[in-house]
Amino acid sequence: MLNYCSFSIEPLSHAVGGVIRGLDLTQEVDSRVLRDIQNAWFRYLVLVFEGQELTPGQQLNFARQLGRVVQYPMAQGLPNYPEIVPVVKLPHERRNFGGVWHSDTTYLPHPPSGTLLLARELPPSGGDTQFANMYLAYDALSDQTKQVINKLIVIQSSAKPRVAKGRSEKVQIGARAGDTELTAEHPVVRVHPITGKRALYVNPAHSVRFTTMTSIESEQLLNTLFEHQINPAFTGSYRWKKGAMVLWDNRCVQHYPLNDYHGYKRVMHRITIA
Ligand code: SIN
Repeated sequence: MLNYCSFSIEPLSHAVGGVIRGLDLTQEVDSRVLRDIQNAWFRYLVLVFEGQELTPGQQLNFARQLGRVVQYPMAQGLPNYPEIVPVVKLPHERRNFGGVWHSDTTYLPHPPSGTLLLARELPPSGGDTQFANMYLAYDALSDQTKQVINKLIVIQSSAKPRVAKGRSEKVQIGARAGDTELTAEHPVVRVHPITGKRALYVNPAHSVRFTTMTSIESEQLLNTLFEHQINPAFTGSYRWKKGAMVLWDNRCVQHYPLNDYHGYKRVMHRITIA
């Protein structure tokens, strides 16, 4: 347990994440609490705020205190809150939204720094979200591999088949179509703008190939990195409680929502921060 001035945090796992209880986010937080939240976020990479039954307006206000809120390009938001995307799995559905290890929308030229996900309705069990620390994943690589990947640029796409199919099924449940392929090029190793630390920035949902390698050459190295980056030593898992809100840092974390609750409904409200 680590104490900040305004709250204490219990680690989610050895590698990533911290759980904060007892903060009231229905009201605007003052600058001291906000600074503590930001410092804790950069230290833990994933923050869980339990007991936050916020209205959509309150969730949006909190997100706006953290940064500029942006709309998700692939799905429509709530009718009165276009910035809040409902992430829903219904009892008859087999696929879940974002059910592959990923960092959010890495196919955009400026992917979001953070994502804020609030649990509205949960299955009786299952539906946990796993997180992986990409600083640890990078640090654990050999110097030789680091030397190779430090120079590489990766093409990220919104249209890798498994992800695009899962998304298009979800899109029919009331979201705006996201049929156009979006692509962007990013360094394989990115330097976090606040902490200055290096993080591995490829993910199996969106990373397609390296700009200076063929698809086949890329595939081998990418698959090695995909397998490496989710080593349990780098991960932590959150078992959701209703009213819990999780903030993760897309610049140094990947996440993976488990799809192990068929026959039940799960509803989350998601906001992304520029
Ligand atoms: C997402 O990838 O944004 C969804 C995460 C979740 O449903 O836990």
